[in-house]
Amino acid sequence: MRTLRTQVLIIGAGPAGLLLGQLLHKAGVANLILERQTGDYVLGRIRAGVLEQTTVDLLDEAGVGARMHAEGLVHHGFELMFDGQRHHIDLSRLTGGKSVTVYGQTEVTHDLMDARAAAGLQTLYSAADVELFGFDGDRPGARCTVDDERIEVQCDYIAGCDGYHGVSRASVPVDAIRTHEKVYPFGWLGLLSDTPPVSHELIYGRHERGFTLCSMRSATRSRYYLQVPLTEQASDWSDERFWAELRRRLDPAAAAALVTGPSLEKSIAPLRSFVAEPMRFGRLFLAGDAAHIVPPTGAKGLNLAASDVRYLSQALIEHYGERSGAGIQHYSARCLSRIWKAERFSWWFTGLMHPLPHEPEIDAKLHRAELEYLVTSEAAMAAMAENYVGLPV
Ligand code: FAD
Ligand code: DHB
Repeated sequence: MRTLRTQVLIIGAGPAGLLLGQLLHKAGVANLILERQTGDYVLGRIRAGVLEQTTVDLLDEAGVGARMHAEGLVHHGFELMFDGQRHHIDLSRLTGGKSVTVYGQTEVTHDLMDARAAAGLQTLYSAADVELFGFDGDRPGARCTVDDERIEVQCDYIAGCDGYHGVSRASVPVDAIRTHEKVYPFGWLGLLSDTPPVSHELIYGRHERGFTLCSMRSATRSRYYLQVPLTEQASDWSDERFWAELRRRLDPAAAAALVTGPSLEKSIAPLRSFVAEPMRFGRLFLAGDAAHIVPPTGAKGLNLAASDVRYLSQALIEHYGERSGAGIQHYSARCLSRIWKAERFSWWFTGLMHPLPHEPEIDAKLHRAELEYLVTSEAAMAAMAENYVGLPV
């Protein structure tokens, strides 16, 4: 068995783990990452696309913002579509000048991986059978197998950034953790294509056939989503079928403007609301999807992972620098206060925009009334915009 030693052991090299590693390194805190998959596999997952300003600021602080500023698209608003009409939501006017940046999670991950490699920081990819130990005492660590070699990493703290299916949350004794979960009876079928976006702003649409999101990665790359029943498989959807269904759910001008092309990727994501409480167990912290999942409507998942990492990096840097434990003590409560508000917003926006199969007519009428209220009331629009651009950290 080979033994390694670090200050903070990070489990998972997704955006949360990589960003935490970079922020700690900048402050002189040693860290090592164990990742179950290969780097290429991590980069192949197409996920989120919208960054709140506080996430952009944190990426700058980590020193990885250059390409995001050069290639990311700053959006000052989005469009809400229902009854065959689009309504502009002017985020900047409604929030005193705030905006969001469209820049794919894949690119964020890429930039963080490059920075980690340039700094010579250690990431063990393809780490199998990761097992945590000792986080309820003073000498935590993990054991795993890499290329048939058994490795033990000893550390001061463990950061569980290993997503919803990771080992960190699963290592906590069941009587020490509470989980809250809601699973939605539909999924999102996503398609990525090298075609110009149908509109220069994102379109969130409610249609009787289902929700639609028109998003983008650049001026030449589009990302579209369709609400589909959970029984569907991505393989049942030819590109032609996808484009025809999308066109049916758009307003006439957008349907006419839609440029179609071969898909680069197509996949179905289930929708769930999930929170695990608390987020610290002795010397183990949970951050990002390891602790919570939001349904994607409103693009909060990646941004919440970033705000957890902000609080966690501050807590650990404070601990090592000033020997103050306050940030560590308050980590869980600070995170959860922001998380529950983002959970509420994502749940609300999901319910508003997705018709349920066999929805009673009264529900459809109530949702329609709420949408009409939203686009005609400054107060309602401002509340939505405030949440969309991101609540304060
Ligand atoms: P992850 O990105 O899940 O990273 C966790 C890492 O830990 C992974 O690399 C994983 O391989 C690794 N890992 C897991 N188990 C172990 C283990 N036992 N040992 C070592 N490593 C391990 N959000 C949006 O805002 N918009 C979207 O459109 C959107 N689409 C999504 C689609 C899908 C299919 C999923 C799953 C999520 C989506 N999200 C979306 C959410 C967003 O992508 C996540 O919130 C974000 O990835 C969270 O980052 P993370 O680093 O916490 O977790
Ligand atoms: C994207 C995903 C979202 O969930 C969202 O609300 C906006 C954009 C995207 O993948 O581009």
